[in-house]
Amino acid sequence: MRRPILPILAFVAGLVALSVAAVMVLVPKAGEVSVSSVGGPFSLTDQDGKRVTERDFAGRTHLVFFGFTHCPDVCPTTLQQIGDVLAALGPKGTDTKALFIAIDPERDTPAALKTYLASFDSRIVGLTGTPDEVAAAVRNYRAYVRKVPTKDGDYTMEHTALVYVMDGKNRFINALNLTRPPEEAAAELARMM
Ligand code: NI
Repeated sequence: MRRPILPILAFVAGLVALSVAAVMVLVPKAGEVSVSSVGGPFSLTDQDGKRVTERDFAGRTHLVFFGFTHCPDVCPTTLQQIGDVLAALGPKGTDTKALFIAIDPERDTPAALKTYLASFDSRIVGLTGTPDEVAAAVRNYRAYVRKVPTKDGDYTMEHTALVYVMDGKNRFINALNLTRPPEEAAAELARMM
C-alpha cells in the first residue's frame, strides 16, 4: 500500500515544530524555568525484561529519547543518528548508553523493543512499562506525547523528538543537536561527559 506523502510531511513538520517548542520550553531565557526540573525518577522494564530505574544509568552522561517502534520516520532516523554519534565518540563512548523510552507501551513490549533495536547501536537501551509507568517518565522529562487515530482505524503517536543529554546525576544538561555531522555532535557530547 502506498503511503500518502503529504500527510507524512505534515506530520514530520509538526514533530519538528514540537521539538522547537520543546527546546524553547526546556532552554528558557534567564532561568525562568529551572532545567533541573527536567528528568527524574522512573521505573521501567528493559528489552530483556529486566526491571530498571534511573539509578541504573547514573554515574555517567547518557542520552534519553522518547519514541515508538511503529514511528514511520523520526524515530528510526534519530536512533540511527544517535548510533552514529556514539560511534563517533570512539573509545570514550564505550559505556555510553542511550535510553529509548517507548511511549506506545500497548504495542512496544520488551520483546518488540528487542527486535526493533537489533537494527541499531547496541548501546541503545529500550525501556517500556505499564501505561502509568511510561506516563510518569514522560511527565518527569516534560515530554509531549499524544495518541492520534488514523483513518484505517489504527493509531499513531505524536511525540517530542528531543534527544536529552543527562549527566551522571540524572540532571538535564542540554538537548543534543543532531542536524550536523555526527563527529560535531560527538565532540559536543564529549565535552559534557
Ligand atoms: Ni517517532
